[in-house]
Amino acid sequence: MPANPSIVSFQHHQSIGLITINNPPVNALSQAVRQGLLECLQEAESEHTIQAIVIACQGRTFVAGADITEFDAAPKPPFLFDVFYRIDQCSKPVIAALFGTALGGGFELALACHYRVAITGTKVGLPEVTLGLLPAAGGTQCLPRIGGLALSLDMMTLGKPRLALSLVEEGIIDRIIDTEPSAYTERVIEYSKELLNTGQGVRPVSAMPVNTTDDDKALLDQWRAKLAKKAKGQTAPQVIIDCIEDAIKLPFLDGQSNARERFLACKASSQSRAMRHAFFAERSASKLEGLSDDIIAGEVNRVAVIGAGTMGSAIAMCFANANIPVTLLELNKEALEAGLNRINQRYQQSVDRGRINAADLNRRMACIKTTCDYNDLADIDLVVEAAFESMEVKQTIFQQLDKVCKPEAILATNTSYLDIDTIASVLSCPEQVVGLHFFSPAERMKLLEVVRGNTTSPHTLKTAVELAKRIGKIAVVVGNGYGFVGNRMYASYGREAQNLLLEGATPAQVDKAMSDWGMAMGPFAVNDLSGIDIGYKARREHPGLPDDPCYFRPADLMVEAGRLGQKTGAGFYRYDPQTGQRESDPIAIERIRAEAIKLGVPQRESISAEHIQQRLVTALINEGRALLQQGIARRASDIDVIWLNGYGFPRFRGGPMWWADQ
Ligand code: 3HC
Repeated sequence: MPANPSIVSFQHHQSIGLITINNPPVNALSQAVRQGLLECLQEAESEHTIQAIVIACQGRTFVAGADITEFDAAPKPPFLFDVFYRIDQCSKPVIAALFGTALGGGFELALACHYRVAITGTKVGLPEVTLGLLPAAGGTQCLPRIGGLALSLDMMTLGKPRLALSLVEEGIIDRIIDTEPSAYTERVIEYSKELLNTGQGVRPVSAMPVNTTDDDKALLDQWRAKLAKKAKGQTAPQVIIDCIEDAIKLPFLDGQSNARERFLACKASSQSRAMRHAFFAERSASKLEGLSDDIIAGEVNRVAVIGAGTMGSAIAMCFANANIPVTLLELNKEALEAGLNRINQRYQQSVDRGRINAADLNRRMACIKTTCDYNDLADIDLVVEAAFESMEVKQTIFQQLDKVCKPEAILATNTSYLDIDTIASVLSCPEQVVGLHFFSPAERMKLLEVVRGNTTSPHTLKTAVELAKRIGKIAVVVGNGYGFVGNRMYASYGREAQNLLLEGATPAQVDKAMSDWGMAMGPFAVNDLSGIDIGYKARREHPGLPDDPCYFRPADLMVEAGRLGQKTGAGFYRYDPQTGQRESDPIAIERIRAEAIKLGVPQRESISAEHIQQRLVTALINEGRALLQQGIARRASDIDVIWLNGYGFPRFRGGPMWWADQ
């Protein structure tokens, strides 16, 4: 019997030994699980009536990985690989019964088993790279042996889980079982008996050769170059390739020993610590501390979106993607048609890229109804207003909604800046108003700021957060204040970038410094892409602009000169009319320099990349600190989640507040 049978248990099913892991919520491989597995394996192997062993799990998923909460402490034996190697060397066939998400150490456990079966819909993957790590428990040596080099490079360096069904042909999954979950274990036991009856025995992966070809070196080099760009500045992806190369060149145990050493180095690195912080920060962001468990989220079966412009139609897609019927409302048929065409086009692009199939497109389009009549919103559970960014327009819409919607309907606004309480003030039910601030492109960006106004009720808040999860967003609850958290910090960051231009830096210099630092794009490239006039107009409506003649002066200057960004062929940069290629523009640089002299801004002789990076990141940190002090952001880690998921802040730096703490 294992020391802790409630976590890992062992049962006889005639000739089959069933080892079951029960470590909620995701069966992570904690020390107790590793110990339990080892003890149960020993028992199963020594029991002469047992001829084959099944490893299964209780709960909602097969093992989802090593226990990440243990990574900050010194590792405690038995070590994962030692347990898995024991499985590999077992004298009786061992079969993994996969379901849910078999990830990281969970998939490595499966790879160490001699056979793998999966229930329909199971996903498997090695996402360690997303935590700045590499698969440490044999995965780097097992997967190339079973699935080959190309698949290993893809799965380990990109970290994206795959459907088990798609790995049957690759020889990784031996059988897909299509059954009710309640009958699954029984079916796996039948499969194990079938293996025994057909005389199939152990199949240790450690004894398998890696299929090599003359092209292997070129393939590895190709991936090294690709990841140097795609995962710029990150260590783990390159180290994973070194481990895969070892799988080709070295005996199994030597390759594994190198992988283990490299894993320990990655685990101790600032990059992995930052990425692990990001993992837990994202999970705590949607936790509503202080809210009683008695508060139940409302049911949301029908949604409406007001406004079929770029944002409104993308928000409608978010609901259709999650199979939630959505009604799109516009002032006239032409605007509705334009919105529907836009949606159809975007879905078609996804079909062309192989992300969804034609049936998905049709199903999603069928989820979207259109109307020009507010009376059609009478049975809607939640409305998202995504109209023009003007208080007057929004208040008029909310007054209409107040008249037609059922009394319990939740009324959300997608405003990026405006005061939620002023919007709510025109309603008879202000407690049902909440901000749902989507980020563009809304159908792809994971972030959703859920803005809690003074009157927003706990029930409304909980319903909004639950809905966000249903549509696959990472919800962060923020307080009500101009620009909320993300955009207010972005304004400070932008202001500092603009000041640097006035001091003599060029847009290209600032952008390069920030993208070298790891930002997805530099601030001026972003500005040109989204349109410099958007911020210009927002500043004109801002009730409390600082009394500073330098405040966003370069941006205002560009707009006044008709240079609105990419859409006008010039902004902070100029764009080649044929290729759209971005180029530095001496005219813009000279204009800004002349203005700086007029404003009396002292010119710096040279500005280093480090100086630029420090100024911009410090601006973010200071604004983040103020937001925390004012209670608009609830936790420092929430700010990190917002910047990682909404503004392209490098995940391997953990977010601005994590960075500040280091
Ligand atoms: N270790 C410890 N805790 C984990 C965990 C793990 N590997 N995976 C998830 N959890 C925890 C979460 O923190 C969360 O805890 P909370 O309720 O206290 O906030 C709880 O489990 C549920 O997680 P989610 O909210 O994420 O639940 P979902 O159902 O949305 O997602 C999941 C489930 C797809 C399994 C997702 O949790 C996930 O992706 N987990 C991480 C998978 C992973 O990265 N595995 C690799 C780990 S590293 C490794 O294995 C190294 C090896 O090579 C040695």
